[in-house]
Amino acid sequence: MNKDEVRKPALNTIEVVGTKIDTRHYIGGQRVASAEAFTNTSPIDGSFLGDICRGTQLEADLAVAAAKKAFPSWAALGPKGRGELLLRLAELVEENIETLAQLETIDNGSLLRSHRRGVMPRVAMNIRFFAEWAINELQHPDFETRGHTNKISWDPSGVAVLITPWNAPLMLATWKIGPALAAGDTVILKPAEWTPLSASFFADLTKQAGIPDGVFNVVQGFGKEVGAALVAHPDIARISFTGSVPTAKVIARSAADNLTPVSFELGGKSPCVVLEDADIDLAVELAVEQYDNAGQVCLSGTRILVHENIADAFALKFKEKALQIIQGDPRDEATQIGPQIHQVHFDRVKGFVDRAKESGANIVVGGEPNTDLGGLYFRPTLVMNPDPTSEIVTSEVFGPVLCLQTFKTDEEAIAMANSTEFGLAAILVSGNKARAERVAKELVAGTIWVNCFFVRDLRAPFGGSKKSGIGREGGNWSFDFYADVKNTVVSPNGWKE
Ligand code: NAI
Ligand code: MG
Repeated sequence: MNKDEVRKPALNTIEVVGTKIDTRHYIGGQRVASAEAFTNTSPIDGSFLGDICRGTQLEADLAVAAAKKAFPSWAALGPKGRGELLLRLAELVEENIETLAQLETIDNGSLLRSHRRGVMPRVAMNIRFFAEWAINELQHPDFETRGHTNKISWDPSGVAVLITPWNAPLMLATWKIGPALAAGDTVILKPAEWTPLSASFFADLTKQAGIPDGVFNVVQGFGKEVGAALVAHPDIARISFTGSVPTAKVIARSAADNLTPVSFELGGKSPCVVLEDADIDLAVELAVEQYDNAGQVCLSGTRILVHENIADAFALKFKEKALQIIQGDPRDEATQIGPQIHQVHFDRVKGFVDRAKESGANIVVGGEPNTDLGGLYFRPTLVMNPDPTSEIVTSEVFGPVLCLQTFKTDEEAIAMANSTEFGLAAILVSGNKARAERVAKELVAGTIWVNCFFVRDLRAPFGGSKKSGIGREGGNWSFDFYADVKNTVVSPNGWKE
Protein backbone atom coordinates (compact mmCIF):
# COMPACT_ATOMS: atom_id res chain seq x y z
CA MET A 1 0.00 0.00 0.00
CA ASN A 2 1.52 3.25 -1.06
CA LYS A 3 -0.32 5.91 0.88
CA ASP A 4 1.13 8.77 -1.16
CA GLU A 5 -0.05 7.50 -4.48
CA VAL A 6 -3.30 9.17 -5.55
CA ARG A 7 -5.46 6.68 -7.38
CA LYS A 8 -8.82 7.32 -8.94
CA PRO A 9 -11.57 4.77 -8.33
CA ALA A 10 -11.71 2.96 -11.65
CA LEU A 11 -14.81 0.83 -11.28
CA ASN A 12 -17.93 0.88 -9.18
CA THR A 13 -17.97 -2.87 -8.97
CA ILE A 14 -15.28 -5.51 -9.22
CA GLU A 15 -15.54 -9.23 -9.50
CA VAL A 16 -13.70 -11.20 -6.87
CA VAL A 17 -13.99 -15.00 -6.56
CA GLY A 18 -16.93 -14.79 -8.94
CA THR A 19 -18.82 -12.32 -6.75
CA LYS A 20 -19.71 -8.76 -7.60
CA ILE A 21 -18.33 -6.41 -4.96
CA ASP A 22 -19.18 -2.74 -4.82
CA THR A 23 -16.04 -0.66 -4.35
CA ARG A 24 -17.97 2.35 -3.08
CA HIS A 25 -18.98 3.28 0.46
CA TYR A 26 -22.42 2.31 1.74
CA ILE A 27 -24.01 5.42 3.23
CA GLY A 28 -27.70 5.98 3.95
CA GLY A 29 -28.57 2.88 1.96
CA GLN A 30 -26.84 4.20 -1.16
CA ARG A 31 -23.53 3.48 -2.77
CA VAL A 32 -21.37 6.61 -2.62
CA ALA A 33 -18.15 7.06 -4.60
CA SER A 34 -15.04 9.02 -3.57
CA ALA A 35 -12.65 11.12 -5.62
CA GLU A 36 -9.77 8.81 -4.68
CA ALA A 37 -9.15 5.15 -4.13
CA PHE A 38 -6.71 2.76 -2.48
CA THR A 39 -5.43 -0.52 -3.78
CA ASN A 40 -6.51 -3.79 -2.25
CA THR A 41 -4.39 -6.88 -2.81
CA SER A 42 -4.44 -10.54 -1.83
CA PRO A 43 -1.81 -11.74 0.64
CA ILE A 44 -1.93 -15.18 -0.99
CA ASP A 45 0.04 -14.12 -4.04
CA GLY A 46 0.10 -10.32 -3.97
CA SER A 47 -2.43 -10.14 -6.79
CA PHE A 48 -4.45 -6.98 -7.35
CA LEU A 49 -8.06 -7.29 -6.18
CA GLY A 50 -9.31 -3.83 -6.99
CA ASP A 51 -9.31 -0.13 -6.28
CA ILE A 52 -11.53 0.72 -3.34
CA CYS A 53 -13.07 4.12 -2.59
CA ARG A 54 -10.97 6.03 -0.11
CA GLY A 55 -13.04 8.03 2.35
CA THR A 56 -12.23 11.44 3.74
CA GLN A 57 -13.82 13.93 6.13
CA LEU A 58 -16.59 14.39 3.55
CA GLU A 59 -17.67 10.73 3.61
CA ALA A 60 -17.33 10.62 7.40
CA ASP A 61 -19.69 13.59 7.69
CA LEU A 62 -22.15 12.05 5.22
CA ALA A 63 -22.17 8.75 7.09
CA VAL A 64 -22.67 10.36 10.50
CA ALA A 65 -25.52 12.48 9.12
CA ALA A 66 -27.19 9.40 7.58
CA ALA A 67 -26.79 7.32 10.74
CA LYS A 68 -28.07 10.17 12.89
CA LYS A 69 -31.13 10.58 10.68
CA ALA A 70 -31.92 6.86 10.79
CA PHE A 71 -31.49 6.61 14.56
CA PRO A 72 -34.91 7.68 15.97
CA SER A 73 -36.98 5.20 13.96
CA TRP A 74 -34.48 2.35 14.46
CA ALA A 75 -34.50 3.04 18.19
CA ALA A 76 -38.31 3.16 18.19
CA LEU A 77 -38.59 -0.31 16.61
CA GLY A 78 -37.63 -1.89 19.94
CA PRO A 79 -35.70 -5.14 20.46
CA LYS A 80 -38.38 -7.32 18.81
CA GLY A 81 -38.79 -5.17 15.71
CA ARG A 82 -35.04 -4.90 15.27
CA GLY A 83 -34.64 -8.57 16.10
CA GLU A 84 -36.82 -9.69 13.19
CA LEU A 85 -34.58 -7.86 10.72
CA LEU A 86 -31.38 -8.97 12.43
CA LEU A 87 -32.46 -12.62 12.41
CA ARG A 88 -33.15 -12.29 8.68
CA LEU A 89 -29.65 -10.84 8.30
CA ALA A 90 -28.17 -13.80 10.19
CA GLU A 91 -30.01 -16.15 7.81
CA LEU A 92 -28.64 -14.29 4.80
CA VAL A 93 -25.12 -14.65 6.19
CA GLU A 94 -25.75 -18.38 6.54
CA GLU A 95 -27.00 -18.58 2.95
CA ASN A 96 -23.81 -16.83 1.80
CA ILE A 97 -21.22 -18.63 3.91
CA GLU A 98 -19.33 -19.97 0.91
CA THR A 99 -19.11 -16.55 -0.78
CA LEU A 100 -18.10 -14.81 2.44
CA ALA A 101 -15.49 -17.46 3.18
CA GLN A 102 -13.96 -17.18 -0.30
CA LEU A 103 -13.94 -13.39 -0.14
CA GLU A 104 -12.37 -13.21 3.31
CA THR A 105 -9.69 -15.76 2.41
CA ILE A 106 -8.62 -14.02 -0.77
CA ASP A 107 -8.55 -10.68 1.04
CA ASN A 108 -6.82 -11.57 4.32
CA GLY A 109 -5.14 -14.94 3.68
CA SER A 110 -6.70 -16.85 6.58
CA LEU A 111 -7.66 -20.48 6.02
CA LEU A 112 -10.63 -21.07 3.72
CA ARG A 113 -11.70 -24.18 5.61
CA SER A 114 -11.88 -22.33 8.91
CA HIS A 115 -13.78 -19.46 7.31
CA ARG A 116 -16.25 -21.99 5.91
CA ARG A 117 -16.69 -24.16 8.95
CA GLY A 118 -15.93 -21.91 11.88
CA VAL A 119 -15.68 -18.21 11.25
CA MET A 120 -18.60 -17.40 8.94
CA PRO A 121 -21.10 -19.55 10.85
CA ARG A 122 -19.97 -17.56 13.89
CA VAL A 123 -20.62 -14.31 12.05
CA ALA A 124 -24.25 -15.39 11.70
CA MET A 125 -24.26 -16.54 15.32
CA ASN A 126 -22.91 -13.18 16.53
CA ILE A 127 -25.83 -11.36 14.93
CA ARG A 128 -28.44 -13.88 16.05
CA PHE A 129 -27.08 -14.14 19.59
CA PHE A 130 -27.20 -10.41 20.32
CA ALA A 131 -30.59 -9.94 18.63
CA GLU A 132 -32.05 -12.71 20.81
CA TRP A 133 -30.23 -11.51 23.92
CA ALA A 134 -31.81 -8.07 23.56
CA ILE A 135 -35.25 -9.67 23.30
CA ASN A 136 -34.99 -12.37 25.96
CA GLU A 137 -32.18 -11.68 28.40
CA LEU A 138 -31.61 -7.97 28.64
CA GLN A 139 -33.57 -7.29 31.77
CA HIS A 140 -33.04 -6.56 35.39
CA PRO A 141 -35.64 -7.29 38.06
CA ASP A 142 -37.27 -4.17 39.50
CA PHE A 143 -36.39 -3.46 43.11
CA GLU A 144 -37.81 -1.27 45.82
CA THR A 145 -36.28 1.61 47.73
CA ARG A 146 -38.56 2.79 50.58
CA GLY A 147 -41.60 1.94 48.45
CA HIS A 148 -40.12 3.43 45.27
CA THR A 149 -39.59 1.11 42.29
CA ASN A 150 -36.28 1.12 40.40
CA LYS A 151 -36.80 0.12 36.77
CA ILE A 152 -33.62 -0.50 34.84
CA SER A 153 -33.53 -0.29 31.06
CA TRP A 154 -30.99 -0.34 28.25
CA ASP A 155 -31.93 2.48 25.89
CA PRO A 156 -30.46 3.10 22.41
CA SER A 157 -27.66 5.65 22.60
CA GLY A 158 -27.14 7.02 19.07
CA VAL A 159 -24.52 6.54 16.36
CA ALA A 160 -21.84 3.93 17.06
CA VAL A 161 -18.57 4.12 15.12
CA LEU A 162 -16.90 0.72 14.78
CA ILE A 163 -13.25 0.53 13.73
CA THR A 164 -12.02 -2.96 13.00
CA PRO A 165 -8.78 -4.78 12.10
CA TRP A 166 -7.78 -7.13 9.32
CA ASN A 167 -6.96 -10.34 11.16
CA ALA A 168 -10.58 -11.59 11.38
CA PRO A 169 -12.46 -8.84 9.56
CA LEU A 170 -16.13 -9.81 9.54
CA MET A 171 -15.96 -11.94 12.65
CA LEU A 172 -14.59 -9.10 14.81
CA ALA A 173 -16.86 -6.54 13.13
CA THR A 174 -20.00 -8.55 13.97
CA TRP A 175 -19.02 -8.81 17.65
CA LYS A 176 -19.69 -5.08 17.53
CA ILE A 177 -22.36 -4.76 14.83
CA GLY A 178 -24.56 -7.42 16.51
CA PRO A 179 -24.94 -5.76 19.92
CA ALA A 180 -24.82 -2.18 18.58
CA LEU A 181 -27.75 -2.75 16.19
CA ALA A 182 -29.63 -4.91 18.69
CA ALA A 183 -29.25 -2.16 21.28
CA GLY A 184 -30.91 0.26 18.87
CA ASP A 185 -27.85 2.22 17.85
CA THR A 186 -27.16 2.99 14.22
CA VAL A 187 -23.74 1.97 12.97
CA ILE A 188 -20.84 3.18 10.87
CA LEU A 189 -18.30 0.46 10.19
CA LYS A 190 -14.79 1.41 9.07
CA PRO A 191 -13.13 -1.86 8.03
CA ALA A 192 -9.34 -2.15 7.90
CA GLU A 193 -7.87 -0.91 4.63
CA TRP A 194 -6.15 -4.23 3.94
CA THR A 195 -9.45 -6.15 4.09
CA PRO A 196 -12.44 -4.15 2.86
CA LEU A 197 -14.27 -6.81 0.80
CA SER A 198 -16.37 -8.75 3.31
CA ALA A 199 -17.76 -5.52 4.82
CA SER A 200 -18.93 -4.29 1.41
CA PHE A 201 -20.65 -7.59 0.67
CA PHE A 202 -22.16 -7.61 4.16
CA ALA A 203 -23.62 -4.15 3.49
CA ASP A 204 -25.52 -5.65 0.54
CA LEU A 205 -26.87 -8.34 2.86
CA THR A 206 -28.15 -5.72 5.32
CA LYS A 207 -30.05 -4.12 2.44
CA GLN A 208 -31.51 -7.48 1.41
CA ALA A 209 -32.52 -8.16 5.01
CA GLY A 210 -34.55 -4.96 4.99
CA ILE A 211 -32.45 -3.08 7.52
CA PRO A 212 -33.60 0.52 6.92
CA ASP A 213 -31.33 2.92 5.04
CA GLY A 214 -28.81 4.68 7.26
CA VAL A 215 -29.01 2.12 10.09
CA PHE A 216 -25.87 0.36 8.89
CA ASN A 217 -23.18 2.21 6.95
CA VAL A 218 -19.73 1.27 5.69
CA VAL A 219 -17.04 3.84 5.08
CA GLN A 220 -13.78 2.62 3.60
CA GLY A 221 -10.33 4.09 3.73
CA PHE A 222 -7.29 4.70 5.86
CA GLY A 223 -7.38 4.98 9.61
CA LYS A 224 -5.50 8.26 9.66
CA GLU A 225 -7.94 9.80 7.17
CA VAL A 226 -11.55 8.69 7.37
CA GLY A 227 -11.05 6.71 10.61
CA ALA A 228 -9.72 9.78 12.38
CA ALA A 229 -12.57 11.92 10.97
CA LEU A 230 -15.18 9.47 12.25
CA VAL A 231 -13.85 9.10 15.79
CA ALA A 232 -13.46 12.88 16.18
CA HIS A 233 -17.03 13.56 15.09
CA PRO A 234 -19.09 15.38 17.75
CA ASP A 235 -22.36 13.68 16.71
CA ILE A 236 -21.39 10.12 17.55
CA ALA A 237 -22.36 8.35 20.76
CA ARG A 238 -19.93 5.42 20.93
CA ILE A 239 -16.55 4.32 19.55
CA SER A 240 -15.66 0.65 19.54
CA PHE A 241 -12.18 -0.22 18.32
CA THR A 242 -10.16 -3.40 17.91
CA GLY A 243 -6.54 -2.95 16.91
CA SER A 244 -3.19 -1.81 18.20
CA VAL A 245 -2.28 0.08 21.37
CA PRO A 246 -0.71 3.11 19.59
CA THR A 247 -3.85 3.61 17.47
CA ALA A 248 -6.05 3.23 20.57
CA LYS A 249 -4.14 6.09 22.21
CA VAL A 250 -4.72 8.34 19.20
CA ILE A 251 -8.44 7.45 19.19
CA ALA A 252 -8.74 8.01 22.95
CA ARG A 253 -7.27 11.50 22.61
CA SER A 254 -9.73 12.31 19.89
CA ALA A 255 -12.66 10.83 21.84
CA ALA A 256 -11.66 12.93 24.86
CA ASP A 257 -12.64 16.15 23.10
CA ASN A 258 -16.27 15.03 22.93
CA LEU A 259 -16.12 12.67 25.92
CA THR A 260 -17.29 9.89 23.60
CA PRO A 261 -17.31 6.54 25.44
CA VAL A 262 -14.83 4.05 24.03
CA SER A 263 -14.55 0.28 24.07
CA PHE A 264 -11.08 -1.00 23.16
CA GLU A 265 -9.97 -4.52 22.40
CA LEU A 266 -6.22 -4.24 21.89
CA GLY A 267 -3.26 -6.46 21.53
CA GLY A 268 -1.65 -9.01 23.75
CA LYS A 269 1.49 -10.90 24.60
CA SER A 270 -0.33 -13.64 26.37
CA PRO A 271 1.48 -16.31 28.36
CA CYS A 272 0.98 -20.04 27.95
CA VAL A 273 2.04 -21.36 31.35
CA VAL A 274 2.95 -25.04 31.55
CA LEU A 275 3.24 -26.21 35.17
CA GLU A 276 5.47 -29.11 36.20
CA ASP A 277 2.47 -31.43 36.63
CA ALA A 278 1.05 -30.68 33.15
CA ASP A 279 0.13 -33.30 30.58
CA ILE A 280 3.01 -32.55 28.21
CA ASP A 281 1.23 -33.74 25.07
CA LEU A 282 -1.72 -31.50 25.81
CA ALA A 283 0.63 -28.60 26.56
CA VAL A 284 2.47 -29.10 23.27
CA GLU A 285 -0.79 -29.32 21.35
CA LEU A 286 -2.04 -26.07 22.90
CA ALA A 287 1.30 -24.32 22.38
CA VAL A 288 1.45 -25.27 18.69
CA GLU A 289 -2.09 -23.89 18.25
CA GLN A 290 -0.66 -20.47 19.01
CA TYR A 291 0.62 -20.39 15.41
CA ASP A 292 -2.97 -20.42 14.15
CA ASN A 293 -3.89 -17.72 11.62
CA ALA A 294 -0.13 -17.33 11.07
CA GLY A 295 0.10 -15.79 14.54
CA GLN A 296 -2.17 -12.90 13.62
CA VAL A 297 -4.42 -13.37 16.63
CA CYS A 298 -4.72 -10.82 19.41
CA LEU A 299 -5.11 -13.39 22.17
CA SER A 300 -2.40 -15.75 20.98
CA GLY A 301 -0.28 -17.19 23.83
CA THR A 302 3.06 -16.23 22.36
CA ARG A 303 5.12 -16.55 25.53
CA ILE A 304 5.39 -20.23 26.35
CA LEU A 305 6.51 -20.49 29.99
CA VAL A 306 7.51 -24.04 30.94
CA HIS A 307 8.70 -25.51 34.25
CA GLU A 308 12.43 -26.19 33.94
CA ASN A 309 12.10 -29.87 34.85
CA ILE A 310 9.93 -30.60 31.83
CA ALA A 311 11.30 -27.96 29.47
CA ASP A 312 13.59 -30.30 27.51
CA ALA A 313 10.88 -32.89 26.97
CA PHE A 314 8.43 -30.16 26.04
CA ALA A 315 10.82 -28.46 23.61
CA LEU A 316 11.62 -31.72 21.87
CA LYS A 317 7.97 -32.59 21.26
CA PHE A 318 7.10 -29.01 20.38
CA LYS A 319 9.85 -28.82 17.77
CA GLU A 320 8.74 -32.06 16.21
CA LYS A 321 5.14 -30.82 15.92
CA ALA A 322 6.04 -27.32 14.79
CA LEU A 323 8.19 -28.66 11.98
CA GLN A 324 5.26 -30.72 10.73
CA ILE A 325 3.02 -27.69 10.29
CA ILE A 326 1.92 -27.41 6.68
CA GLN A 327 2.31 -23.90 5.39
CA GLY A 328 0.83 -22.91 2.06
CA ASP A 329 -2.07 -21.52 0.09
CA PRO A 330 -4.90 -20.92 2.58
CA ARG A 331 -7.38 -22.27 0.04
CA ASP A 332 -5.84 -25.77 0.20
CA GLU A 333 -7.62 -28.09 2.59
CA ALA A 334 -4.31 -29.42 3.97
CA THR A 335 -2.80 -26.03 4.77
CA GLN A 336 -2.48 -25.17 8.45
CA ILE A 337 -0.78 -21.78 8.20
CA GLY A 338 -1.05 -19.20 5.43
CA PRO A 339 0.72 -15.93 4.69
CA GLN A 340 1.07 -12.69 6.62
CA ILE A 341 -1.54 -10.11 5.68
CA HIS A 342 0.58 -7.54 3.82
CA GLN A 343 4.15 -6.69 2.86
CA VAL A 344 4.27 -3.94 5.48
CA HIS A 345 3.23 -6.38 8.19
CA PHE A 346 5.51 -9.15 6.88
CA ASP A 347 8.46 -6.76 7.07
CA ARG A 348 7.48 -5.84 10.62
CA VAL A 349 7.37 -9.50 11.71
CA LYS A 350 10.64 -10.27 9.94
CA GLY A 351 12.20 -7.19 11.54
CA PHE A 352 11.43 -8.55 15.03
CA VAL A 353 13.02 -11.89 14.21
CA ASP A 354 16.05 -10.37 12.45
CA ARG A 355 16.77 -8.11 15.42
CA ALA A 356 16.42 -11.05 17.81
CA LYS A 357 18.94 -12.97 15.70
CA GLU A 358 21.34 -10.03 15.61
CA SER A 359 21.24 -9.84 19.39
CA GLY A 360 22.19 -13.51 19.59
CA ALA A 361 18.82 -15.12 20.35
CA ASN A 362 18.64 -18.87 19.96
CA ILE A 363 16.11 -19.63 17.24
CA VAL A 364 15.36 -23.34 17.22
CA VAL A 365 12.45 -23.48 14.77
CA GLY A 366 11.93 -21.37 11.64
CA GLY A 367 13.27 -17.85 11.95
CA GLU A 368 12.97 -16.91 8.31
CA PRO A 369 10.58 -16.49 5.39
CA ASN A 370 9.41 -19.69 3.75
CA THR A 371 11.40 -19.34 0.56
CA ASP A 372 9.69 -22.38 -1.01
CA LEU A 373 6.49 -20.36 -1.06
CA GLY A 374 7.97 -16.89 -1.46
CA GLY A 375 5.85 -13.78 -0.99
CA LEU A 376 4.44 -13.16 2.46
CA TYR A 377 4.91 -16.60 4.02
CA PHE A 378 6.96 -16.60 7.23
CA ARG A 379 7.92 -19.89 8.85
CA PRO A 380 6.56 -20.82 12.27
CA THR A 381 9.33 -19.67 14.60
CA LEU A 382 10.42 -20.51 18.14
CA VAL A 383 12.91 -18.40 20.08
CA MET A 384 14.49 -20.34 22.98
CA ASN A 385 15.27 -18.57 26.28
CA PRO A 386 15.36 -15.02 24.93
CA ASP A 387 16.54 -12.15 27.11
CA PRO A 388 13.40 -11.45 29.19
CA THR A 389 13.74 -7.71 28.61
CA SER A 390 14.11 -7.99 24.82
CA GLU A 391 11.37 -6.74 22.49
CA ILE A 392 10.60 -10.24 21.20
CA VAL A 393 9.38 -11.02 24.75
CA THR A 394 7.69 -7.73 25.56
CA SER A 395 6.15 -6.54 22.26
CA GLU A 396 3.29 -7.95 20.22
CA VAL A 397 4.81 -9.40 17.03
CA PHE A 398 1.46 -10.56 15.56
CA GLY A 399 3.17 -13.22 13.48
CA PRO A 400 4.02 -16.92 13.85
CA VAL A 401 6.71 -16.18 16.41
CA LEU A 402 6.71 -17.79 19.87
CA CYS A 403 9.20 -17.55 22.74
CA LEU A 404 9.98 -20.33 25.20
CA GLN A 405 11.15 -19.41 28.70
CA THR A 406 11.55 -21.54 31.80
CA PHE A 407 10.69 -21.08 35.47
CA LYS A 408 11.36 -22.89 38.75
CA THR A 409 8.33 -22.14 40.96
CA ASP A 410 4.65 -21.28 40.52
CA GLU A 411 5.38 -17.84 41.97
CA GLU A 412 8.05 -17.23 39.37
CA ALA A 413 5.69 -18.41 36.61
CA ILE A 414 3.00 -16.00 37.82
CA ALA A 415 5.46 -13.09 37.95
CA MET A 416 6.71 -13.85 34.44
CA ALA A 417 3.19 -14.31 33.10
CA ASN A 418 2.16 -10.92 34.49
CA SER A 419 5.33 -9.10 33.48
CA THR A 420 4.19 -7.40 30.25
CA GLU A 421 2.03 -4.33 29.77
CA PHE A 422 -0.69 -6.56 28.27
CA GLY A 423 -3.40 -8.69 29.88
CA LEU A 424 -5.71 -10.04 27.20
CA ALA A 425 -5.56 -13.77 27.87
CA ALA A 426 -3.53 -16.51 29.52
CA ILE A 427 -3.37 -20.23 28.97
CA LEU A 428 -2.57 -22.45 31.93
CA VAL A 429 -1.70 -26.13 31.62
CA SER A 430 -1.70 -28.19 34.81
CA GLY A 431 -2.65 -31.66 36.00
CA ASN A 432 -3.87 -30.49 39.39
CA LYS A 433 -7.16 -28.66 39.82
CA ALA A 434 -6.42 -26.96 43.13
CA ARG A 435 -3.04 -25.78 41.92
CA ALA A 436 -4.44 -24.56 38.60
CA GLU A 437 -7.14 -22.66 40.45
CA ARG A 438 -4.55 -21.02 42.73
CA VAL A 439 -2.35 -19.96 39.81
CA ALA A 440 -5.27 -18.86 37.59
CA LYS A 441 -6.44 -16.55 40.37
CA GLU A 442 -3.10 -14.72 40.28
CA LEU A 443 -2.92 -14.30 36.50
CA VAL A 444 -3.89 -10.82 35.32
CA ALA A 445 -5.89 -11.16 32.09
CA GLY A 446 -9.44 -10.86 30.77
CA THR A 447 -9.66 -14.56 29.90
CA ILE A 448 -7.80 -17.51 31.44
CA TRP A 449 -8.01 -20.81 29.58
CA VAL A 450 -7.15 -23.78 31.78
CA ASN A 451 -6.06 -26.85 29.78
CA CYS A 452 -7.78 -25.40 26.72
CA PHE A 453 -7.66 -22.53 24.25
CA PHE A 454 -10.11 -20.38 22.27
CA VAL A 455 -13.29 -21.58 23.94
CA ARG A 456 -15.45 -18.49 23.52
CA ASP A 457 -19.05 -18.24 24.60
CA LEU A 458 -20.85 -15.02 23.66
CA ARG A 459 -22.50 -14.97 27.09
CA ALA A 460 -19.09 -14.56 28.70
CA PRO A 461 -17.15 -11.30 29.04
CA PHE A 462 -14.23 -10.87 26.67
CA GLY A 463 -11.67 -8.08 26.82
CA GLY A 464 -8.33 -7.03 28.11
CA SER A 465 -6.75 -6.01 31.38
CA LYS A 466 -3.95 -3.43 31.54
CA LYS A 467 -3.02 -2.14 28.04
CA SER A 468 -5.00 -4.89 26.32
CA GLY A 469 -8.20 -2.94 26.43
CA ILE A 470 -10.97 -0.96 28.00
CA GLY A 471 -14.29 -2.67 28.67
CA ARG A 472 -15.68 -6.11 27.95
CA GLU A 473 -17.73 -7.54 25.08
CA GLY A 474 -20.30 -10.35 25.40
CA GLY A 475 -23.75 -10.79 26.98
CA ASN A 476 -24.88 -7.81 29.03
CA TRP A 477 -21.37 -6.34 28.96
CA SER A 478 -21.83 -5.45 25.28
CA PHE A 479 -25.16 -3.78 25.95
CA ASP A 480 -23.80 -1.91 28.97
CA PHE A 481 -21.50 -0.23 26.46
CA TYR A 482 -23.67 0.31 23.38
CA ALA A 483 -26.84 1.25 25.27
CA ASP A 484 -27.59 4.07 27.64
CA VAL A 485 -28.30 2.25 30.88
CA LYS A 486 -31.13 4.01 32.64
CA ASN A 487 -32.81 3.76 36.01
CA THR A 488 -36.36 5.07 36.28
CA VAL A 489 -37.38 5.53 39.93
CA VAL A 490 -41.16 5.52 40.38
CA SER A 491 -42.64 6.91 43.56
CA PRO A 492 -45.66 5.33 45.29
CA ASN A 493 -47.07 8.87 45.79
CA GLY A 494 -48.81 11.43 43.60
CA TRP A 495 -50.92 9.13 41.39
CA LYS A 496 -54.42 10.31 40.63
CA GLU A 497 -56.00 7.23 39.12
P1 NAI B 1 -4.15 -0.44 13.62
O1 NAI B 1 -4.50 -0.45 15.07
O2 NAI B 1 -3.41 0.74 13.12
O3 NAI B 1 -5.48 -0.56 12.73
C1 NAI B 1 -6.69 -1.12 13.13
C2 NAI B 1 -7.84 -0.27 12.58
O4 NAI B 1 -7.73 1.07 13.06
C3 NAI B 1 -7.84 -0.15 11.04
O5 NAI B 1 -9.18 -0.17 10.59
C4 NAI B 1 -7.24 1.22 10.81
O6 NAI B 1 -7.62 1.80 9.60
C5 NAI B 1 -7.80 2.00 11.97
N1 NAI B 1 -7.06 3.20 12.35
C6 NAI B 1 -5.74 3.43 12.28
N2 NAI B 1 -5.44 4.67 12.71
C7 NAI B 1 -6.61 5.26 13.06
C8 NAI B 1 -6.96 6.54 13.57
N3 NAI B 1 -6.05 7.47 13.81
N4 NAI B 1 -8.26 6.80 13.82
C9 NAI B 1 -9.20 5.87 13.60
N5 NAI B 1 -8.93 4.65 13.10
C10 NAI B 1 -7.64 4.33 12.84
O7 NAI B 1 -3.40 -1.79 13.32
P2 NAI B 1 -2.43 -2.17 12.09
O8 NAI B 1 -1.57 -1.02 11.72
O9 NAI B 1 -3.26 -2.77 11.04
O10 NAI B 1 -1.54 -3.31 12.78
C11 NAI B 1 -0.43 -2.97 13.58
C12 NAI B 1 -0.30 -3.89 14.76
O11 NAI B 1 -1.45 -3.77 15.60
C13 NAI B 1 -0.25 -5.36 14.46
O12 NAI B 1 0.99 -5.78 14.06
C14 NAI B 1 -0.68 -5.94 15.79
O13 NAI B 1 0.41 -5.96 16.68
C15 NAI B 1 -1.72 -4.98 16.27
N6 NAI B 1 -3.09 -5.40 15.95
C16 NAI B 1 -3.86 -5.97 16.90
C17 NAI B 1 -5.12 -6.44 16.59
C18 NAI B 1 -6.00 -7.06 17.59
O14 NAI B 1 -6.79 -7.94 17.23
N7 NAI B 1 -6.00 -6.66 18.83
C19 NAI B 1 -5.65 -6.37 15.24
C20 NAI B 1 -4.78 -5.69 14.31
C21 NAI B 1 -3.56 -5.25 14.67
MG1 MG C 1 -6.59 -7.43 1.06
